[in-house]
Amino acid sequence: MEYKLETSPLDKVDSGLVVVGVFQDQSVEEAIKAIQSNFPQQFLQKIAQFMQEENFKGSADQIISLPTYGDIASKKLVLAGLGKSQDYCIQQARKLAANITRRFCVNGKTEKICLFVPSTENAESLVQAIVEGAILGSYTFNKYRSGKDDKKQSNLAQIGFGSIKIDAGLFEKACQRGEAIAESVNFARQLIAEPANHLTPSRLAEEARTKGQEYGLVVEILEQPQIEKLGMGSFLGVAKGAKELPRLIVMRYKHDQAKKTVALVGKGITFDSGGLSLKPAQSMEHMKYDMSGAACVIASALAIAKLKPKVNVLVVVGATENMPGGQALHPGDVVTAMNGKTIEVNNTDAEGRLVLADALCYALQEGADEVVDVATLTGACVTALGRVAAGIMGNSQDLIDTLINRGKEAGEKFWQLPMYDEYKESLKSDIADLKNAGSRGEAGTSCAAMFLKEFVDSRPWAHMDVAGPSWLDKDRDECNKGGTAFGVRTLCYHVLNSQN
Ligand code: BES
Ligand code: ZN
Ligand code: ZN
Repeated sequence: MEYKLETSPLDKVDSGLVVVGVFQDQSVEEAIKAIQSNFPQQFLQKIAQFMQEENFKGSADQIISLPTYGDIASKKLVLAGLGKSQDYCIQQARKLAANITRRFCVNGKTEKICLFVPSTENAESLVQAIVEGAILGSYTFNKYRSGKDDKKQSNLAQIGFGSIKIDAGLFEKACQRGEAIAESVNFARQLIAEPANHLTPSRLAEEARTKGQEYGLVVEILEQPQIEKLGMGSFLGVAKGAKELPRLIVMRYKHDQAKKTVALVGKGITFDSGGLSLKPAQSMEHMKYDMSGAACVIASALAIAKLKPKVNVLVVVGATENMPGGQALHPGDVVTAMNGKTIEVNNTDAEGRLVLADALCYALQEGADEVVDVATLTGACVTALGRVAAGIMGNSQDLIDTLINRGKEAGEKFWQLPMYDEYKESLKSDIADLKNAGSRGEAGTSCAAMFLKEFVDSRPWAHMDVAGPSWLDKDRDECNKGGTAFGVRTLCYHVLNSQN
């Protein structure tokens, strides 16, 4: 992708598409004046007429386009609503960029776009967000479409930025960051889009290895015998019901000046049938996306490797299917996790926490100073927060607050749920140290977090339950329908901010 810091006024910009952001409380004339362009009077009249015909009010996400027939240098002018000026923020610009590229660059001929949107306090963040939005909006996945006509394709090749005051060096850096992060998100989306018969645990591990090595990461894939040696009875319990063998995926990014190691731990269930506590058909339909947490941390590591912050990153993914094979865990079985705790598996569909328990232990053993896990862990979280926000919990309010704030900058919403001691009661087992599932229908997301807490120590730990926003049934701004790879942006922003 090419990035251009445009210095010409709007009417002189020669791009396939020039986009002007217009506030709800502003006329186009005002918007154009604000970006100091002098449109020919007759063209302004045409625009005004067109706006009226299209009932364009500048409300958020309203987009209209008109041909310019030589009135200005670009072939097409797009007016994009920004909503009320007092609500304007970087996320609004990110969304706008995504909606523009999805509409005009995917299966359209548009190769070059140039955006004129109002500035925000921080020009670097604005540029980065627009790059992210533009790349995320033009995501496509065609691998399994055989008909040529069914394939969607993006032609986006250049993103221009008009009327932005920013140092050229900082501009370039912002574009690099935006591109690295968005491309990682799109890579994670591809992994999630892969059906479970293609993306098995071993294939996921191979993907992590190939990509990781390409980006200069140290990648280690542990197979069943090594996982057994580590004493990961909880993780292996889940894997028992599947014919496909499990993998523990470990990726390392190191910086010589790093003072701390951030561990990113992902749930990598390539398919969740529920095991013997089988899911009903409807709940199983999209369960290939139960490896979204894994895709998220693997992809984040790629962007981090590219952007080289001064911090070490350790990625740990427990990858397995959750299947009801002849060897599968029976409800009531007892397994022993890596830290020696025994777990009565009263529900085999609460498999994510069993996998994460061992993955968390491993991350701490490997010297993590801080741990963030990402998992499509509970249906209860989808019920509570819908597809809009992820749940966040943990043992460090500081880390939770930081992540919530990074999420705001990155355009991903997190909502903290409580970890009251009382919830632990529901995880008490009659025969083991704890059981894996609490009472149905009661604070499921918090109980899952209480379970995970048994496998970390006092080091800062945060748990992201991304079950809701990791999957959408239709496109929504910078998120595509299907697997969204929610969390990549927040983790990248967080790690980049964790430098010494
Ligand atoms: N992968 C599911 C959680 C999930 C549900 C993700 C819906 C996305 C959409 C998880 O493994 C699971 O099945 N959890 C159970 C836990 C329960 C048995 C305690 C759930 O949420 O029902
Ligand atoms: Zn499950
Ligand atoms: Zn699951």
